[in-house]
Amino acid sequence: MTKTKLAVFASGTGSNYMAIYQAIQQGDLQADLALLVSDQPRATVIDKAKRHGTPTYIFEPDQYQTKAAFELTILEQLHLHKVDWIVLAGYMRLIGSTLLQAYPRRIMNIHPSLLPAFPGLDAIGQAFKAGVKITGVTIHYVDEGMDTGEIIAQEAVSVPKSGSKQDLQKQIQSVEHRLYPSVIQQLILQA
Ligand code: GRF
Repeated sequence: MTKTKLAVFASGTGSNYMAIYQAIQQGDLQADLALLVSDQPRATVIDKAKRHGTPTYIFEPDQYQTKAAFELTILEQLHLHKVDWIVLAGYMRLIGSTLLQAYPRRIMNIHPSLLPAFPGLDAIGQAFKAGVKITGVTIHYVDEGMDTGEIIAQEAVSVPKSGSKQDLQKQIQSVEHRLYPSVIQQLILQA
């Protein structure tokens, strides 16, 4: 039986890429990591992907005149690798209509807050500054907006009393690394 093929899109460290990779290795996520797409040639996620045998497609957005132009080249790669689902994991760009139309309800994102609270950049810092007692993690379908798509799953995280922003970040990341692979697995089974 052919497994569902995932493309992970990431611009940074790739701890969520690693969590997905490990869940696949452990058999908790029945999927193939078919492609890692990055818009940041120096992102450390690229080394992680190469070390673990995930094909990579790296591009530089500045070299294209429009989002549609670079998304068309991404789409070619997705088709080449027969990708079924797109998993955004720290991909610091809005997805455009080219990819949204090609993968309807097949693109998801993880965000480190309980959306609709604290969308956009530095959600953990925003929550910390606001002094909330509870924040969390959201996994949602992607639409053209910034962290606005339909919510698939959420998990709350208590803000540690008198802890630092780094403490909160660690707690949120450990929830992300458990939640993302398990939600991906559920979606695959339902599809
Ligand atoms: C995660 O916190 C995710 O919620 C957000 O970007 C971060 C990516 O972290 N969208 P990493 O690159 O997976 O470590």
